[in-house]
Amino acid sequence: MRQLALVTGASAGIGRSIAADLASRGYDIVGVGSSAKVEDLASELTQTVVHPVRADLSTREGVDQVWREVEALDRPLEVAALNAGRSLGGGFLDTDIEEELVMIALNITSQVLLAKHVTRRMSEQGHGGILITSSLSALTPTPYESIYGPTRAFMLSFAEGLREEMKEHGVTVTALLPGATATDFHHSAGMDNTVFGNNDWKNDPGLVARQGVDALMAGKDHVVGGDAKTRRSALLNRVLPDSVKARRFAKSSRPTP
Ligand SMILES: NC(=O)c1ccc[n+]([C@@H]2O[C@H](COP(=O)([O-])OP(=O)(O)OC[C@H]3O[C@@H](n4cnc5c(N)ncnc54)[C@H](OP(=O)(O)O)[C@@H]3O)[C@@H](O)[C@H]2O)c1
Repeated sequence: MRQLALVTGASAGIGRSIAADLASRGYDIVGVGSSAKVEDLASELTQTVVHPVRADLSTREGVDQVWREVEALDRPLEVAALNAGRSLGGGFLDTDIEEELVMIALNITSQVLLAKHVTRRMSEQGHGGILITSSLSALTPTPYESIYGPTRAFMLSFAEGLREEMKEHGVTVTALLPGATATDFHHSAGMDNTVFGNNDWKNDPGLVARQGVDALMAGKDHVVGGDAKTRRSALLNRVLPDSVKARRFAKSSRPTP
């Protein structure tokens, strides 16, 4: 029987490329998105079986709906790519707290809820691989995206701890840390009037996804997603003082009037 992968945020950007990459490696896909775009996945990935699920993962009901759909297939789950996420740009004084709470629910709470289901299922099976999308933003203060960066830092730290726990159950956990990637992500975050708002200089989502899936298949603990310059930024983020990183980040994230 073909193997099964769950991919959240599969209707666009990095998640869509992860779904396509896994499909090309022979996986059937449960692809989750919040908009009708997720329905197009089946017509795009013709070489595989796609189960599209339209659900709002920022709600408990949405997460439960996704897991019900996985359970209904009554098949082993070999891969879970917990990737759906969003940002919100702007000065903290101006941003809407309700939007920020929804972002925390999507970027953290839904990932933890899904990970609870996925780890229990995979440990019963005795095998499986989990790919958690974090970000280079996990390694730096993120002024003018002041809540987003901490949500990615949470996911990196979560992935690192979970990885150690899951070893004895035959399950691997890999964190994907993309650098800036050319998707709708920063536009959706209301950041068109920032350096991040311009997609011309960013990484290709196909490259980032391939690096993530390669690392997942190799059982690596983490991988930086992007080109050589992105990998250099990741190294710099490991050594520069936080105050320097904060100033550098603000140059790209601060809205121009
Ligand atoms: N792009 C970057 O520069 C970058 C850099 C580092 C890390 N990342 C991380 O990479 C991940 C994917 O980002 P991306 O660039 O691919 O963004 P994207 O192109 O905006 O795609 C986001 C995906 O998440 C889904 N999604 C958004 N809100 C959702 C919700 N409430 N419920 C269910 N699904 C929802 C979207 O579904 P719909 O489109 O159907 O609404 C879409 O499939 C995120 O976790 C992000 O933090 C991105």
